[in-house]
Amino acid sequence: MIKKGRFITFEGGEGVGKSTQVKILADKLSAAGIDVILTREPGGSLGAEEIRDLLVKGSTDKFSPMTEALLHNAARAEHLTKTVKPAINVGKWVLSDRYADSTIAYQGHGQGVDMKTLLSIHSFATGNFWPDLTIILDGNELERAAAREDEKFDKEDRYERMGKSFHDKLRESFLKIANNNPERCKVVSAAGTVEDVAKRIWKIVDVK
Ligand code: TMP
Repeated sequence: MIKKGRFITFEGGEGVGKSTQVKILADKLSAAGIDVILTREPGGSLGAEEIRDLLVKGSTDKFSPMTEALLHNAARAEHLTKTVKPAINVGKWVLSDRYADSTIAYQGHGQGVDMKTLLSIHSFATGNFWPDLTIILDGNELERAAAREDEKFDKEDRYERMGKSFHDKLRESFLKIANNNPERCKVVSAAGTVEDVAKRIWKIVDVK
């Protein structure tokens, strides 16, 4: 019987270096002989990438918070069915740049969708599927170049334009998520060089 792979997600606010670290970990795992795929949310499969386009571009107020939560979960259901679960079932490790904790932080703490409702949508959309490990990168967000309110409809900066008070809530909310899920979530400081952070992450990931 094929041993199941693992599902590892990366979470954090904007500009804390998440995407760089997820790539470094994928390279290190490959070098250690592990069959790994790198994916992202929203997105990670054909249909989910189309839903991503709706979510990350255009006017900041085009959807109500509940619609955003449902769209992220629709993309997630698609991503899990088409990409994540098939890979895990043949023994691959799946690293995803964001997953359900982003919905809890952005649509829950950030946009005010009720937490119980979000957890029940998650359960319905995914069969209550959670990662084996979640790395929460914690650090000051980089200056958001697109914090201006001018809307560039072709750029993937819709959430970046949601304003400072929205973004200020995110760091605290990811720490709260980690606190509530100590077995699954590990907080890693984003301070220092890219290599410093990569070393901290590598210590957490058990390759045995
Ligand atoms: P990215 O910039 O990390 O690719 O993610 C796109 C944006 O989508 C990012 O600003 C965070 C946001 N997002 C949510 O609001 N809810 C979610 O469930 C996910 C996965 C992402």
